Amino acid sequence: MRIKNICCIGAGYVGGPTMSVLALKNPNIRVTVVDINEERIAAWNDSELDNLPIYEPGLKDVVKEARGRNLFFTTEVEKAIDEAEMIFISVNTPTKTYGKGKGMAADLKYIELSARQIAKVAKSDKIVVEKSTLPVRTAQAIKDILDHTGNGVRFQILSNPEFLAEGTAIQDLMDPDRVLIGGEESDDGKEAIDALVDIYATWIPKEKILTTNVWSSELSKLVANAFLAQRVSSINAISELCEVTGADVREVSRAIGMDSRIGPKFLQSSVGFGGSCFQKDILNLVYIAKSYGLKEVADYWEQVILMNDHQKIRFAENIVSKLYNTVSGKKITFLGWAFKKDTNDTRESAAIYVADALLNEQAEITVYDPKVSEERIYADLDYLNTRSPEENRRLLKVALNPYQACKSTHAVAILTEWDEFKSYNWEKIYESAVKPAFVFDGRNILDSQSMREIGFQYQSIGISNLNKI
Ligand code: NAD
Ligand code: UDX
Repeated sequence: MRIKNICCIGAGYVGGPTMSVLALKNPNIRVTVVDINEERIAAWNDSELDNLPIYEPGLKDVVKEARGRNLFFTTEVEKAIDEAEMIFISVNTPTKTYGKGKGMAADLKYIELSARQIAKVAKSDKIVVEKSTLPVRTAQAIKDILDHTGNGVRFQILSNPEFLAEGTAIQDLMDPDRVLIGGEESDDGKEAIDALVDIYATWIPKEKILTTNVWSSELSKLVANAFLAQRVSSINAISELCEVTGADVREVSRAIGMDSRIGPKFLQSSVGFGGSCFQKDILNLVYIAKSYGLKEVADYWEQVILMNDHQKIRFAENIVSKLYNTVSGKKITFLGWAFKKDTNDTRESAAIYVADALLNEQAEITVYDPKVSEERIYADLDYLNTRSPEENRRLLKVALNPYQACKSTHAVAILTEWDEFKSYNWEKIYESAVKPAFVFDGRNILDSQSMREIGFQYQSIGISNLNKI
């Protein structure tokens, strides 16, 4: 079966870049990305490529080449569904904020709405591809909805989770470690799997394209994120032990990472992991385990989140304690608000929770982030509902220039590992700061010795200050 028209529902951080690369590599397939968010679609269609709705290195070039050729962004959802032989569902699946499973389970309302819309519109057979991250066995629910349309249309459901990481999305899509496709173990199922394999095989070696049953594919996505997050929480747990024993977490990471069974990646101690995926997907895994009565399994994975929460709060508490147990009325500068470098995404960023804890102590925060807008920063804080929007705007300011942000500050806290922070004129920042001037490096990106030589009271994560401060 040769696919000529693809529709992708959801033009977000996954749908946008994924479909852009897929269209780039398959010029003979017409790829239409749809979304109900008109503003987002308008931004994807903006002739000024700097106005794309998401920032990802390399994305502009891909969009420039494919958009208008065989890549289209539109709000005409029904038309695109009708015309496509293959439909990707790439809508958001946030943690539920209401009802049963509140705070844990994935909210599948957008998935169900997408399935119902496909069921309503489809007049010809379709392959429906789950691109969103979903609880294991969601394909069954989608199939139930689609198979009860009564119009004779046949549907095949595939699971094709996305493993891209933000900030490296284009690189990850161009050269993924693997592509995972789960499908039904029937002739029709195999035909659908082959159709999707053919699309990826235009640029990805076949041996990297894994095919499995649907449930293994759905579950593997949750498990991959749980394992990655677990590594960060594990090294962060050790960072606290390093601080009290005189060990250096960077040296420990290096020493254990050289064991080929452990490997060197994802052992970077930090102020805590953020992002829209790790927490949401682990909570979902915990919820699924609980719903099958697997208490020990649920408790085991929940600990990864608890450790991460502890790391964020510990960072904030350390700032308060080092600033002589009070930050009330003191200016604290945040360098970075995004959950990692090279993205404008702030979902679940550690910065939000550290800021909230410090604002509770009446600190006055000024934030500088090279890619995150003022509007986004206030929206993140307001969402917590800890204090009124007016209060948030009174206590927290957003600066457009890092030196301005650091002027007359009591402490600089590095929350995101943006490369540009390393090349700042730190002598100049020191000169303009209130003394003693503190730097709390939540990403261990600066050189401790040079920072101390400049005069800073420099604190990093997982590195003992036993003899230094
Ligand atoms: P996102 O919020 O950036 O984008 C989702 C988009 O879907 C939104 O623009 C929303 O308006 C649109 N949408 C929702 N319901 C719709 C409907 N009925 N019709 C049309 N459009 C609709 O989310 P995202 O970060 O792209 O994540 C999408 C999925 O991919 C999630 O399940 C997520 O867990 C998974 N995922 C995300 C990442 C990541 O790095 N962000 C990586 C891998 C997997
Ligand atoms: C993650 C997965 O990596 C990706 O495969 C999946 O598709 C989506 O979720 P993402 O959240 O975009 O990707 O970024 P990732 O690079 O995994 O970082 C997540 C968080 O962990 C960030 O806050 C990052 O700063 C933090 N992190 C990562 C660390 O603190 N230390 C590390 O060693 C690695």
